[in-house]
Amino acid sequence: MCGIVGYLGDKQAFDILIKGLHRLEYRGYDSAGVALVDSQGNLNVYKTKGKVSSLEDYCKDKDTTGTVGIAHTRWATHGEPNDKNAHPHYSQSKNLAIIHNGIIENYLSLKTFLQKEGYQFQSDTDTEVLVQLIDYIKTQHNLSLYDAVHQALSQVIGAYAIGVLEKNNPNVLVAARKSSPLIIGIGEGEYFLGSDASPIIEYTNKVVYINDEEVVKIERGANMEIRNLKNVVLQPKVHELSLNLDDIEKGGFEHFMLKEIFEQPKSLSLCMNGRLHRDLGEIRLSGILDYGDKFERASRIIITACGTSWHAGLIGKYLFETFCRIPVEVEVASEFRYRNPVIQRGDVLIAISQSGETADTLAAMELAKKQGAFVYGICNVVGSSVARLTDSGTYTHAGPEIGVASTKAFTTQVAVLTMTALALAKRMNKITDEDYKRIIDEFATIGDKIQTILNNRDYIKEISKIFTYAKNFIYLGRGFNYPVAMEGALKLKEISYIHAEGYPAAEMKHGPIALIDEEMPIVVVAPHYAMYSKILSNVQEVKARKGKVIAVVTEGDVDIKKLADYTIEVPQTEECLSPLLTVIPLQLLSYYIAVAKGRDVDQPRNLAKSVTVE
Ligand code: AGP
Ligand code: GLU
Repeated sequence: MCGIVGYLGDKQAFDILIKGLHRLEYRGYDSAGVALVDSQGNLNVYKTKGKVSSLEDYCKDKDTTGTVGIAHTRWATHGEPNDKNAHPHYSQSKNLAIIHNGIIENYLSLKTFLQKEGYQFQSDTDTEVLVQLIDYIKTQHNLSLYDAVHQALSQVIGAYAIGVLEKNNPNVLVAARKSSPLIIGIGEGEYFLGSDASPIIEYTNKVVYINDEEVVKIERGANMEIRNLKNVVLQPKVHELSLNLDDIEKGGFEHFMLKEIFEQPKSLSLCMNGRLHRDLGEIRLSGILDYGDKFERASRIIITACGTSWHAGLIGKYLFETFCRIPVEVEVASEFRYRNPVIQRGDVLIAISQSGETADTLAAMELAKKQGAFVYGICNVVGSSVARLTDSGTYTHAGPEIGVASTKAFTTQVAVLTMTALALAKRMNKITDEDYKRIIDEFATIGDKIQTILNNRDYIKEISKIFTYAKNFIYLGRGFNYPVAMEGALKLKEISYIHAEGYPAAEMKHGPIALIDEEMPIVVVAPHYAMYSKILSNVQEVKARKGKVIAVVTEGDVDIKKLADYTIEVPQTEECLSPLLTVIPLQLLSYYIAVAKGRDVDQPRNLAKSVTVE
């Protein structure tokens, strides 16, 4: 959660820091702040509750000069979002300022110790404890900032990405990470610090990914230094980023979420590029070419993820079981990691994550790895922690997803799972050549089919206006489209704040049916496949109780159309590919309902894009 930015160079830092915070605001946005050392050697900290724009207003009449600085946009864990708890935090001497993403778990015992040593605290945060500890160690042992941070972190339990600035030495910035992401950008005579590459990409494409338990010193006119907590000096590995600025800007759309919904034909084509060969009737995935035997030998596959990525995983279960006949378990990472799961050597664990930084997913991967599983990652952010922790994997190549509600990341995850299951089934001789080629052929047209649904947006917008009154929604689906119903419900609650539940359609009669009255909207995902007549009966059950049915159906549908209050058509496709189509109207429906209700679609309340705390 939260975004951190830093700058050290010969330019004025403030504008770079503010722009960086705007780019990172999707990660957290309950308060924001900045610390700068001006040319007179003052360490100025400005911080305020609210979004980055409030910080800009607050800073209008302040001295924001300085060529070194750190900045933060917060997603509170310890202490309510207010001015005093916003970062950066000063140390007591006001010689140091810190920004922090993560949680210091042993902050209470450290705080008690420091209070006994005469330290007083201005905030309720765990972060302030860390900066006071650094200050204490630095003054007690007369250490450099780099050494003091190093020593302090060896006493810390928890997760952190930090940046520390020293008033008396404005030529140096010290940063460190454990479990929260941190990237250093290297420009011409300047350094940047970021939670991800978005605040950096405008200035340089040379970056160094910092690993867990590494402490970094960046210094004006000197090479960066890295040392891990075991005191091993490390050589920075410089990577070249291939992102460009357009990828992280809105490009004329009202919201990032809408832009990302509309990008799906393109993101899917990038995802399938070089992998799905329609001309050859083949799928080539390097992960399966190199490690297919691990999957073949596995007695089961475990898929773990959180939120939307977990929904993609649930579709993965249908795919692997249908095509490869390998048993699959899908579990949310936070449950999996703590329930002492039975993992056998040779099990394959697939971890799915857009950000690649989700704390629970990372912990689940570590656990599975320790117990001998082969860990495969499906991830969007290149170089992220998930990508670096896996034995092998596949990038989704969706491009940066900025809207907090995941859309294009989901469809590319589903596409990767589909390609993986098909490639594996082929390798295992579990699919006929005819089926394999037919599905590949159809898969290649999916982007165009999504486009036809997107072209129907005005109709979906009209429907959405009708339902802004609703306090609750039910989403129903079966088979491959049951996880789609869950995803539709999650999208709606995330951005419109309307309560919504996704259910397997037949399960409705075991409870949720009691909720149905003439006020209740029920979204039924009912494309025309084997279970059509069953779901038709479910629609009938809803209508018998006067529920309002919005049905997502296959083009040319007759029966459900007669019953439903509103129908949204999607083109005909293979059943296994249908989630890629049926989810699109659900994304648009939530988007337009949220907009009609005046919600902050890209930055919904209480949420953050990247959940780096457990
Ligand atoms: C998606 O709309 C959500 N904001 C959220 O559920 C998200 O999918 C979840 O936090 C997992 O994130 P990840 O894919 O980056 O691991
Ligand atoms: N735990 C810290 C706080 O509550 C940092 C939270 C964050 O990552 O934004 O202030």
